[in-house]
Amino acid sequence: MGLLDGKKGMVFGVANDRSIAWHIAKNLIDHGATCGFAHLPGEKMERRARKAIEGGGVVDPFLIPCDASKDEDLDATFAAAKDHFDAIDFVIHSIAFADREYLKLGNFHQTPRDVFTQAMDISAYTLVAMAKRAAEFMPNGGSIIGMTYFGSEKAIPGYNVMGVAKAALEACTRYLSMELGEKGIRVNTLSAGPIKTLSSMAVDGLDEIFEWVEKKAPLRRNVEADEVGKSAVYLVSDLASGVTGENIYIDCGYNVVGL
Ligand SMILES: NC(=O)c1ccc[n+]([C@@H]2O[C@H](COP(=O)([O-])OP(=O)(O)OC[C@H]3O[C@@H](n4cnc5c(N)ncnc54)[C@H](O)[C@@H]3O)[C@@H](O)[C@H]2O)c1
Repeated sequence: MGLLDGKKGMVFGVANDRSIAWHIAKNLIDHGATCGFAHLPGEKMERRARKAIEGGGVVDPFLIPCDASKDEDLDATFAAAKDHFDAIDFVIHSIAFADREYLKLGNFHQTPRDVFTQAMDISAYTLVAMAKRAAEFMPNGGSIIGMTYFGSEKAIPGYNVMGVAKAALEACTRYLSMELGEKGIRVNTLSAGPIKTLSSMAVDGLDEIFEWVEKKAPLRRNVEADEVGKSAVYLVSDLASGVTGENIYIDCGYNVVGL
């Protein structure tokens, strides 16, 4: 018997087989869950997402295009998910975006208003937008998970406006947990250490961050995306029935070190 037998939900953010969203989905599926997937619209986006999902052994996946910055896309995606699944138990929010031009060392103070607003919208507000829609068909309660990074708490060179958006995402998590708790819906974030993906490669100075973590983290290594997936299994499962509003670090302990 799997820990997640009978649980169904939506996973946002599989761009390819390196995506943290894919590693989360794979672990959820391995423990008995059924996942539907939303990818950014576009033929190339669909092809890459499908390759990862079907290549990972999911037969005939429920896969739908969704630009989460558009309310009409979110409405259509959650309506289709409701038709397909009837009810869901989890939502994985593993998406973020900021103009890479402003993820360069030393230029946070140059961030234009539209770049700031877009990063906040896609990387933080969409968690609220998804929670609102998901809560309507989580009759048995559920688990909503967002992905964050330590750059929300400390100034990490190059992370820039994304760090500000992650701070907002973590605050949204706490407020959502307070309001949705009475429906039995838990909302948490996983704070992953740096992992090589399409998105992270846009952050200037990433290689230096990897080297530093390997030297300083208590486990003396960088984390694997699969380890983030395992923690998602815990948060979706009933093992975490008393956990909400939390941020759990999956970073080989890096966040506890003071030098
Ligand atoms: N890779 C890391 O080092 C790291 C560390 C901590 C947290 N995170 C977070 O993990 C999450 C997943 O990132 P990843 O590293 O797997 O990279 P990724 O590039 O594989 O995934 C990011 C996803 O966001 C999606 N996305 C961007 N804009 C969107 C929009 N408007 N609508 C819908 N989807 C959109 C992309 O299509 C992509 O699938 C992000 O929130 C990221 O900030 C990553």
